[in-house]
Amino acid sequence: MQKILVTGAFGLVGSDLVSELQKKHGNDQVIALGRQTIDGNFHGILEQGDVRDYAAMEALIKKYNIGTVYHLAGLLSVGGEKQPDLAWDVNVGGLKNILDLAKDYQLKVFWPSSIAAFGPTTPKHDVPQHTSLEPTTIYGVSKVTGELLCQYYFKRYGVDVRSLRYPGLNGYKAAPGDGTTEYAIHIFYGLIKDNAYTCFLKEDARLPMMYMDDAIKGTIALMEAPAEKISVRTSYNFAAISFTPGELVAEIKKISPDFQISYEPDARQQIAESWPQTIDDSRAREDWGWQESFDLAAMTRALYEGVKAKLQK
Ligand SMILES: NC(=O)c1ccc[n+]([C@@H]2O[C@H](COP(=O)([O-])OP(=O)(O)OC[C@H]3O[C@@H](n4cnc5c(N)ncnc54)[C@H](O)[C@@H]3O)[C@@H](O)[C@H]2O)c1
Repeated sequence: MQKILVTGAFGLVGSDLVSELQKKHGNDQVIALGRQTIDGNFHGILEQGDVRDYAAMEALIKKYNIGTVYHLAGLLSVGGEKQPDLAWDVNVGGLKNILDLAKDYQLKVFWPSSIAAFGPTTPKHDVPQHTSLEPTTIYGVSKVTGELLCQYYFKRYGVDVRSLRYPGLNGYKAAPGDGTTEYAIHIFYGLIKDNAYTCFLKEDARLPMMYMDDAIKGTIALMEAPAEKISVRTSYNFAAISFTPGELVAEIKKISPDFQISYEPDARQQIAESWPQTIDDSRAREDWGWQESFDLAAMTRALYEGVKAKLQK
């Protein structure tokens, strides 16, 4: 049987996706590719490698008879601004390697784009599927390029590549990074450790967000949908909830009424301001039945319980 390769397997998304795929298909069917952050407690098939290395990726695909790749490896908004050349090489070069291998080995590919593909000229509210894509970060530039590459490989070579424009994703299994939307995870560490948090975005910085379980559910649903249902081969708008730090704090205060919040916006506030606030994802809902399960209250409760259990271990 053909196996599944997950790149970026130990990142925020990969940590949740790998365990879900293992549950669905069995531990021996999923190959988790990490670069540096290898989890010592991992149960499953583990490989280490760099997605920029075409020969190494090809060797993995042959070794395990890979049929599907979830290609998550990449640099995100803040890391990308620190190292723009590296962000381009990993995000665009790595994706092109996977697409070239998909062409030669008939692989089915999932690759996430992001709301970072949007920019200041994109409408702020209910962003339509087809809209202005003029991002101002190298991360966003790499995502727009990636979306167009995916569509090109589909049209030119028939590669079955599918994609979602992920909003800010909030999960607790992996440690949060320094991404623009990740205040919404860090705040729970502040809540549980100190009952206080200093937020690097303004109180009213509204951004599209999603609880990780919904993102994983949507990702797998997209990959399982019949090919004829997939009408978007760049990347689907994909949304669930949209909230500000102030609204999240109001929800947290239902758990801990004397929670202390302060705001010290940094450079990430500018990145947040270049992104839209709400997304129209009706194409995903119509084409393959996307429907989220977690609203802000349910997400808050799940993150609180998840981070608390993690910190008590
Ligand atoms: N987390 C979010 O909110 C969010 C939002 C929109 C899109 N996305 C996209 O989802 C994907 C996964 O994001 P994440 O949040 O899990 O990121 P992450 O930073 O937590 O994980 C990315 C992983 O990629 C690995 N990696 C980096 N360079 C590599 C290389 N050269 N070769 C192999 N591995 C390499 C890193 O070690 C890291 O573990 C990315 O494409 C990202 O752009 C994430």
